[in-house]
Amino acid sequence: MKLSLRLILFLVAGVTIVTFVVSKNEVRAEKRGLRTDLVHRAEILSESLQEIVEPALEKGSREQLRRIVERFGNREQLAGVVVYDSHGQVLAESSNLQNRFVPPPVPLAQVAASEAGLSQFVTIGSEPMHVYYMPLHDKTSVTGVLAIFNDVGYIETQSARMWRATFWHVIAEVLLIVLITVLIIRWTIVLPISRTAQWMKDIRRGRVMPSPPGPKESFLAPFTNEVMNLTRSLADARSAAEEEARLRESGESVWTAERLRVSIQGKASQGSLVVVSNREPYMHVHRGKGLELLVPASGLVTALEPILRACDGIWIASGSGDADRETVDDHDHIRVPPDKPDYTLRRVWLSKEVEKGHYYGFSNEGLWPLCHIAHTRPIFRASDWQNYQEANREFAEAVLQEIEGVEHPLVLVQDYHFALLPRMVKEARPDARVAIFWHIPWPNPEAFGICPWQRELVSGLLGADLIGFQIQAHCDNFLETVDASLESQIEWERFAVKRGGHLTFVKPFPISVDFRESQRGLDPAVSPYVLRSELLSKLGIKANFIGVGVDRVDYTKGLLERLRGVERFLEKWPAYREKLTFVQIGAPSRTEIERYHDFLAELEAEAARINARWQTADWKPIALLTRHHSHEEILPYYRAADFCMVTSLHDGMNLVAKEFVASRDDEEGALILSQFTGAARELRDAIIVNPYDVEQLAEAIRVALEMDTVERQTRMRLMRSTVMRHNVFAWAGSLITELSEIRIEEAQPELRQAL
Ligand code: G6P
Repeated sequence: MKLSLRLILFLVAGVTIVTFVVSKNEVRAEKRGLRTDLVHRAEILSESLQEIVEPALEKGSREQLRRIVERFGNREQLAGVVVYDSHGQVLAESSNLQNRFVPPPVPLAQVAASEAGLSQFVTIGSEPMHVYYMPLHDKTSVTGVLAIFNDVGYIETQSARMWRATFWHVIAEVLLIVLITVLIIRWTIVLPISRTAQWMKDIRRGRVMPSPPGPKESFLAPFTNEVMNLTRSLADARSAAEEEARLRESGESVWTAERLRVSIQGKASQGSLVVVSNREPYMHVHRGKGLELLVPASGLVTALEPILRACDGIWIASGSGDADRETVDDHDHIRVPPDKPDYTLRRVWLSKEVEKGHYYGFSNEGLWPLCHIAHTRPIFRASDWQNYQEANREFAEAVLQEIEGVEHPLVLVQDYHFALLPRMVKEARPDARVAIFWHIPWPNPEAFGICPWQRELVSGLLGADLIGFQIQAHCDNFLETVDASLESQIEWERFAVKRGGHLTFVKPFPISVDFRESQRGLDPAVSPYVLRSELLSKLGIKANFIGVGVDRVDYTKGLLERLRGVERFLEKWPAYREKLTFVQIGAPSRTEIERYHDFLAELEAEAARINARWQTADWKPIALLTRHHSHEEILPYYRAADFCMVTSLHDGMNLVAKEFVASRDDEEGALILSQFTGAARELRDAIIVNPYDVEQLAEAIRVALEMDTVERQTRMRLMRSTVMRHNVFAWAGSLITELSEIRIEEAQPELRQAL
């Protein structure tokens, strides 16, 4: 039986039973009321009759008695009146009673005994009656009985009327309930479920949708979430299988999440991969009365997340969201991503003071400008250095806790926040294989040499078994820095440093993105033109062309140069005014640092200045969106753009360039890329520019917009093939393979001596 029919039947049965019980009580109460009323009326009548019948009886006047009963007995509703003598013989009876029925015998003894009168409901013949017997007296004894007969048929008629009303009432209720139930089932269950089923069907047929259409009903939310997860897993499995098959077919050897998982399982036991970074992949923050989950804008997070997901490792990072503490367990762990937990995030709590000196001070006012040649002077303070050491120590403790009892763990340390960490971990756990990946550039020895603690930093790094940089040039710079700052033996043939018997390999591992994931989430059937007009209309802009830039607001990203490049382009080619809008998505970053704070203001002023030159009512050259955007929000901009601009003054790799390329499965769109990024070494089919040369930037925009379609698509195809092959799993796979193949046992005693 169909669910809706069952539901309706149960509801109908329930309503009928309840209505019946209630009505029964009502009818009973009504009957009781009518009967009481009847008895009361009979009582009053008999009392008044008694007063006139008793004298007539005493006189023995039958004629007078007959007249009395006749006068009163024919009243409405009254069936009749009878006067009996003391033996129960009829002395007088009203004419309406005659020929109708034979009155029952008078219960003389009971009547005589009752002072007030005797009330009885009886059935005479087939008629329901009420009889009220009233004793008649002379001065000494009972001389007769007065009986008043009342028809009670009207009470039954009234009850029957009530039951009829109840019946129609039930019918109306049932119809209403059926109607409401059908509508509720249809709107809140059938429609949402059939929409979800259609959505699943679309996905099965290969149409990609970011989220199921509706339903917003909270009771269905757990179901739709699970369906989403299941569908995602199925889609993942299917596309992984397709990809594997395609790769086998083409004989290519491309790293996938699955291959990385298998590869790591063969090299490390479960849970033995530990990644350390300062920035966490998920931040919990308070928003109004609830909690919000944020994925911070960070190339590092973009790259590492897929690896942790593939391998179910532990990611140790600084807890920086104001609701982070509320969401971890007693071990400061939380399984993430929250909707589909794949790995463990361990949060470390640095004090405000340590965080200020470590993160804002030494890392971002010292090492960041030191390593990026962007002409911002590094600031080194002794107090920041103290806090930098302290933060490294606290993170080292966390790492040691997490790898306690784990045999030969793999520890992957990330970036310039933790130069001292490799040595600290190796001192305590020489059996651990430790690698550090330096995401940002490493400058030449002269530039690095201005850091007062360069020896300590280099020595800390050399505690690692493997140091990874983005490109070979950074490896060379590092080895030259080691040469210039420490007593050590550099083996240039195999790019390694031997110090105190411990060997550290130094190699380039160009980081990348999850190629498949970067293009997921948009329906390929929606054309870039449709997306473009949707995005621009939200911004209140009308334009034919759209350029896009996506960055943290950081002085190394060449953002001012980029805007000036757009300005110069519009100066040189005025035909593009009111036709091209450049959308710059800028996530505010490190704003507690004065330089960053000022830079954000400078960027906004520069965009406003340029806009003021040509802006019209519904067009402006630059749309500067200075707020954090999620990947899902950024993706439509990538897909709608005629070109993407990456103009970093200096950048280790730059994953925006690779994400843009990965997202363009339509093989459209041009990439303008700074020659000072690591990415420029791989994406040679981008339009390579020197961001310091404004004329070149303007020309690059013209080339991007006017490039022949075949040329543009060929370039995009080639770049996509590069990013597909050199994806983030290839990066992690080669880093971990390299690390796990390092022989660490022999080096242990010598390492200890050197420490
Ligand atoms: C660069 C660094 C990362 C850092 C990211 C975001 O990509 O290499 O280590 O996480 O910038 O910066 P933030 O200071 O917000 O973590």
